[in-house]
Amino acid sequence: MSGRQSDFRYSTGEAKVPWAAVGEHADLSDVMAIVEFLVRPREGAEAEYDERLIEVREAVQTLLAAGGPQTKLTLGGRVLELEAAVREMLRCKYAMMLTNATAGFEIACKFAGLQAGDEVICPAITFISTILYPLSIGAKVVFADLDPRTINLDPADVARKVTDKTRMIVPVHIGGRPVDMDPIMDLAHERDIMVLEDAAHAFGGWYKGRAAGTIGDFGAFSLHEVKNVTSLGEGGLLVTNDDRFGPQLSLARFVGLDISKQIKNWLYDVVPLETARGLAVPGNHSVTEIQAVMLLSQIARLSDIIARRREAAEYLNARFADVPGIVPALPDTEDIKSTWHLYLLQIEPDVLGCDIQEFKQRLSDRGVTNIPHFAPLYKFELLQRLGYDHDAIAATCPVAEEAFNRRFTHLPLYPLTKEQVEYMADALIDATRG
Ligand SMILES: Cc1ncc(COP(=O)(O)O)c(C=O)c1O
Repeated sequence: MSGRQSDFRYSTGEAKVPWAAVGEHADLSDVMAIVEFLVRPREGAEAEYDERLIEVREAVQTLLAAGGPQTKLTLGGRVLELEAAVREMLRCKYAMMLTNATAGFEIACKFAGLQAGDEVICPAITFISTILYPLSIGAKVVFADLDPRTINLDPADVARKVTDKTRMIVPVHIGGRPVDMDPIMDLAHERDIMVLEDAAHAFGGWYKGRAAGTIGDFGAFSLHEVKNVTSLGEGGLLVTNDDRFGPQLSLARFVGLDISKQIKNWLYDVVPLETARGLAVPGNHSVTEIQAVMLLSQIARLSDIIARRREAAEYLNARFADVPGIVPALPDTEDIKSTWHLYLLQIEPDVLGCDIQEFKQRLSDRGVTNIPHFAPLYKFELLQRLGYDHDAIAATCPVAEEAFNRRFTHLPLYPLTKEQVEYMADALIDATRG
C-alpha cells in the first residue's frame, strides 16, 4: 500500500499504514458500469454488443491485474493539466475548472465585491443562470436590449442604462457568437465597472484576436452536456487575467483551504477571499479528475468540432441566402469567430405572413425538432415575485420582445449528419410556403 499518491490532506508518504485519499477503489464492476453507461447498444445489435462486452470485461480484468487503481479522484494532476491546456489555448493568465459556469459567475461576482443594491446589466435574453447570483444577494438586475441582428447585448442600450450604481456588466455570447466587446469595455473602463463574460456557449470563440471569455475581468464557460465540449455532463471554467483574483481562484473553488498556511496543531488554514470590496466567504465547487480527463480529450478535437459546426452553418446560410422571409445567421469574419454552438434563425414575419411560433409549428410538422431555448428573463415568475415589473421592463427592451415573440429561434447544428442538415434546410424552405 505504501508509496501511492495520496490526497494532500492525508499525505502519509511511505507509511506502513497510509491514509489513502480514495476510499473504495474502482473495481471491475465500476469500470464496466461506466463503459456500459457511455457506450450504449445499437438497436438490432444487442447480441453483438453483449458479446463484445464480455471481451471488454476480460480485457479490463487483465488490466486491473497488471495495474492498480487510481489513487486520486478529485482535484489532482489531470485538473491541473487541463487548466494549463486551457490557459494556453485561450492565452489567458488564470483558468480554473469547476462544477459549472453558474458557479463561475458566483465566484466572479464575489471577487467583484457585488453587494445588495448594486446594479448588474445583462441582456434581456439569456439563460437564467446568468443572473441567479445577483438576484440571490439582492443586487438589481437591469435588462439591456439586444442587437436585432445577433440578439446579443446591444452596447448602445447598455450605455443608456448605466447608472452610478452599476457595478457589473454581463455580456452573453449567445449561441457562441462573440458580443461586440470594444464599446462595452470602453464604457466599463470609463465608469469603473467590472465585466463578467457569460461565455457559456463560447469556448473557442474569438473576438479581434482575443479568446471570448478573456476580454472582460472574468469569463465563465459551460461544459454542460449540451455544449460543444463537455466534461462528462457537467463542468465549467472560470478565467481571468487579473492578478488580484487569479491566484485566489483555487481558494474560491475549494472552501478557502490554504495548504501554504497552517493553524497550530493542524494541516492547513482556511482563508477568506480578498475581493475588490472587502472579504468574501468561499464555497465548494470542486471537479473530479475523470471530468478533466474527458475534457482534455475533447479539447484536442475542439477545432474540428467547431469546423464541422461552421460548415453546417455555412451550408444553411447558402441555402437560405435567397429565400424571402428568412434571415440567415451572420457568418464569421476576420474579427469575429463563433463557436457555432447554435444556429440563429430569424424570420421576417411580415414577409412570411406568420410569426415564429407558427413557423416553428410548421417545422415540427415536417419533423424538425424545435425547442424554445431562451426567453426574456423578466417573464419568469421568479423575477416577478422578486418585484420586477414585467411591462415596464418589456417597454425598455423592444428588440428582445420582437425577437422572442415574432422573429427568432435556434436550430441545432451538431452532431447532425450531412443528410439531416440538408433535410432541415429543405424543410425550412418548404415551411416558408405555408
Ligand atoms: C447563456 C448561458 N449561460 C449560462 C449557462 C449555465 O451553464 P452551466 O450549466 O454550466 O452552469 C447556460 C447553460 O446552458 C447558458 O446557456
